[in-house]
Amino acid sequence: MSDKPQRRHGPATVGVHGEGADKSPGAPVVPPIVQSATFHWADPSDGDLLYTRWTNNPNQLEVARKVAALEGMESGIALGSGMGVIACTLLALTEMGDHVAASSLLYGGTHSLLAQELPKRGVETTFVDPCDGDWEAALRPETKVVYLELPANPSLRVPDPRPVAELAHARGIAVVADMTFASPVNMRAGEYGVDVVVHSATKYLGGHADIIAGVAAGPGRIIGEVNRVSRYFGPVLDPHAAWLLDRGLRTLDVRVRRHNENALRIAEWLETRDAIARVDYPGLASHPDHAIASELMDGYGGMVSFVLKGGGAAADRFVSALQVALAAPSLGGVETLVSQPRYTSHVGLSESEREARGVPDGFVRLSIGIEDADDLIADFEQALTAAS
Ligand SMILES: Cc1ncc(COP(=O)(O)O)c(C=O)c1O
Repeated sequence: MSDKPQRRHGPATVGVHGEGADKSPGAPVVPPIVQSATFHWADPSDGDLLYTRWTNNPNQLEVARKVAALEGMESGIALGSGMGVIACTLLALTEMGDHVAASSLLYGGTHSLLAQELPKRGVETTFVDPCDGDWEAALRPETKVVYLELPANPSLRVPDPRPVAELAHARGIAVVADMTFASPVNMRAGEYGVDVVVHSATKYLGGHADIIAGVAAGPGRIIGEVNRVSRYFGPVLDPHAAWLLDRGLRTLDVRVRRHNENALRIAEWLETRDAIARVDYPGLASHPDHAIASELMDGYGGMVSFVLKGGGAAADRFVSALQVALAAPSLGGVETLVSQPRYTSHVGLSESEREARGVPDGFVRLSIGIEDADDLIADFEQALTAAS
């Protein structure tokens, strides 16, 4: 599984230009929105049949190619949500009787898909602690997929994909990683043995909290199968949303660098506050995966989590006192968003189950935006005072 072309240009250039613009006289610098469900086609001599549910609308193709280039992968596909991409990728790689070995630290929606929905279709999952667990023991003759999230939501653990990829490849198993939190600016997982990268493009790739979208990138034969499956399940990316996603990709590199810079500064500041029991950020020396994150990532990302000593009640007071940051789920936009996973991604779990996943009451997740870090720090300072 090593049919990955090398990226020709840096991420900032690829984000702006993709594979290169149409430079014919009069061609628009910004590709237009092709808001059409279907396209003139009389017979096979007219070339490929285009239909927007087939994922070959020009706007969909533009972002799919761009993300594949950013990830250094052969092929890409853009669909209507991160979950649409994750579901279609898992459906494409498995059939009844197959097995998935997945990280136990996953976005709640993906965890439910694997634990509750796929078993109804005859596909079982074994969950493994991705940093300290025994992957080899979890692999079975019928295992078809190893599934990871890097960094994991919301614990921000950074498992090393290389050892598990080696085990998987020796058995012909595909390694899929959700790289939503990292973005291709901070890490290209294909360089570390991951075969297929999936993203909620709703987050950093779109970057403005105004679209729902998903992308996958990987070898052409796997992405082709994801495409085939998606044509029947139909989680289509609307052309206008695809165009907005392309607009987001043009500034991905500068935005992510600013997210990285702000988040590191804020994580370091949070560590100095008495009201806070623990700060989780891979860029901090205190983080258990700091060494591996420093080796694999170009930046540590915009997500920071912390636990308030005052527990859930203090977290509620902190969130309601915020004046610049906004209390909302989701992440990866230009604006700082704050949420408590016990009300959002982890709402279905008991307090002890949440604790076991490193998410005790009092846990606050920050998606650090691109505002002035000084303003965010002042806002968090006054909210901490209000909370205590
Ligand atoms: C890591 C991760 N993967 C996937 C998803 C699902 O993405 P979407 O909401 O675009 O379907 C999310 C959503 O929060 C997420 O955080």
